Amino acid sequence: MAALQEKVTAEFQKRFGAEPTFVVRAPGRVNLIGEHTDYNDGFVLPMAIDRAVWAALRPRDDGRVLVHSLDFAQDAEIDALPESKVAPIWAQYVQGVLWSLRKNAYHPTGWEGVIAGDVPVGAGLSSSAALELAAARAFASVTPFTWDAPKMALISQRAENEWVGVNCGIMDQMISAAGEAGHALLIDCRSLATEAVPLPPDTSVVILDTMSRRGLVSSAYNERRQQCENAARIFGVKALRDVSVPIFKVRAHELDEITRKRARHIVTENERTLQAAQAMRSGDAVLLGQLMNASHESLRDDFEVTNAALNAIVQCAQQQAAMCYGARMTGAGFGGCAVALVKAEQAKAFADAVTACYEAVSGIMPNIYICSASQGAQVVVGESW
Ligand code: GLA
Repeated sequence: MAALQEKVTAEFQKRFGAEPTFVVRAPGRVNLIGEHTDYNDGFVLPMAIDRAVWAALRPRDDGRVLVHSLDFAQDAEIDALPESKVAPIWAQYVQGVLWSLRKNAYHPTGWEGVIAGDVPVGAGLSSSAALELAAARAFASVTPFTWDAPKMALISQRAENEWVGVNCGIMDQMISAAGEAGHALLIDCRSLATEAVPLPPDTSVVILDTMSRRGLVSSAYNERRQQCENAARIFGVKALRDVSVPIFKVRAHELDEITRKRARHIVTENERTLQAAQAMRSGDAVLLGQLMNASHESLRDDFEVTNAALNAIVQCAQQQAAMCYGARMTGAGFGGCAVALVKAEQAKAFADAVTACYEAVSGIMPNIYICSASQGAQVVVGESW
């Protein structure tokens, strides 16, 4: 049994003197390629990681939702009244999902339980999406209603946009809702169609946390969104997804320099993401790695969302050419994590080499996770619908 499953189950038994009716989990994510493309209706290629939020719970007849967070050592009663937004921040994500479910004509019933997670908070590995989807899974198991992954992802995204107030795209919630073990998921962020693509044979995905955190991520993120919308308007399309590389080249001169750079990143990143999925289908780790390297360059020079720490750790990773196929920043940027594709049998040696290199150039110890692709939100104990 997974350590966190044991932990939430033991705490549930202690508090309620009974076995939980359901144990659910929902994972964090790392994006292999396709960055900042989701809010441009484009393509992304993330995988769900083996770090997740877990909940052990049982239904309540009176409609109340009572949750204990082991990570914060706090209890919260979850309701969706505007004044309850002052609840502890972790509880706001659960409230937001309840609020959003109701807005979407679901009528979830109550439950009580214990939650805990091991997705690092604030590192860019989508601990919020994991919490939202774990909450959605909890509501979906007690009510019960059928688990429709894209629908639950949209409901969770709405919770984050409108209840919590973070203007994210759909990628994080989709991969946490719909991830498949051993695979990354090619997601068309316009139709929400997904295709599971296997990791190339004998490769490992390694997450490199720079440990740098920047406060201004959300204003820079919103600014990028606006620049992309501007570019789409000039091209006369609904979103930059509708601009191909050849069309971009012909009409690029119509855009001012900044808008041109932002749009060039999105247009080329969409193409790289589709090529990366093809490389994965044919097991071509070398090509996938090259596309990841090119993605980093584009995020650094055109989209301008890297920072010195991300550039340093990516360079450290790319220097391990005998072990590493490619590396890039991952997530929103401005700090947080990079991701590398490496030879599986050398993953540990790679992690040691990057640790030494990054520490030498930055004076900071990185946090490195060799991770595997896990299942998306699921009911681990109890009957799923
Ligand atoms: C954050 C957002 C996602 C996506 C990425 C950038 O993780 O939550 O929706 O936009 O940044 O690719």
